[in-house]
Amino acid sequence: MATRRTRYSDVPRTQAPGESLLPTRTPVREKEPRQVEFPLDRAFTFVESGPVLLISTHHHGKSNLMTVSCHASMGFEPTIGICLGPWNFSYAALVETGECVVAVPTADLLPRVVDIGNCSGRTMDKFLEFGLTPLPSRKVKAPLVAECLYNLECRVTNRALADSHNFFVLQGVKAWRHPAPADARTFHAVGDGTFIVDGEVIDLRHRMVKWQDCI
Ligand SMILES: Cc1cc2nc3c(=O)[nH]c(=O)nc-3n(C[C@H](O)[C@H](O)[C@H](O)COP(=O)(O)O)c2cc1C
Repeated sequence: MATRRTRYSDVPRTQAPGESLLPTRTPVREKEPRQVEFPLDRAFTFVESGPVLLISTHHHGKSNLMTVSCHASMGFEPTIGICLGPWNFSYAALVETGECVVAVPTADLLPRVVDIGNCSGRTMDKFLEFGLTPLPSRKVKAPLVAECLYNLECRVTNRALADSHNFFVLQGVKAWRHPAPADARTFHAVGDGTFIVDGEVIDLRHRMVKWQDCI
């Protein structure tokens, strides 16, 4: 017997307590659709708002940090894709060691994270300069960043798009979280020097009827 797929209309949509943030009225439509042209070379800003990351590396006895906002979640293993260009000092470390730590900084670190992305480890020790604490990792040589909300020890598993797109696929091999962060909000780069700090958390787990194993 053929099984019937669940349709969106089958999913119960009762209003839960505290669900007031969902729109309850249909917005008034403008007579003309309001869309204006947008420069294609700035269109990456539509989707670049994942959390800004710090990438920690260790190469030739030196630990380093860089800021990365161009990245993609590629699988639950976890697999993460990052764009990291050869103009960065960190590039040689990533290519030659095949390892790094992906650290997720919190909103209180935002000015420092921006500054870390505006200078180079070629000429300084960024952990020292920016008052961040390197902690030993378990499976890679690159250090964890103690002040960050999360740290993910990673190995590079695919460089097929490294030459054409500076794109590296990372496989997480060991994950950590800060036990008591002062501020658990992460932040997102729009791509033009402005940033969005996490806002209200809206818990819609009761609507995730098809994805219970993700909860
Ligand atoms: C907010 C922000 C986001 C950035 N995102 C990226 C990125 O996604 N990929 C990249 O290659 N460089 C990115 N950079 C630039 C590097 O962080 C920057 O070149 C850094 O100085 C490299 O440090 P290093 O030379 O010590 O490796 C970003 C910088 C900032 C400030």
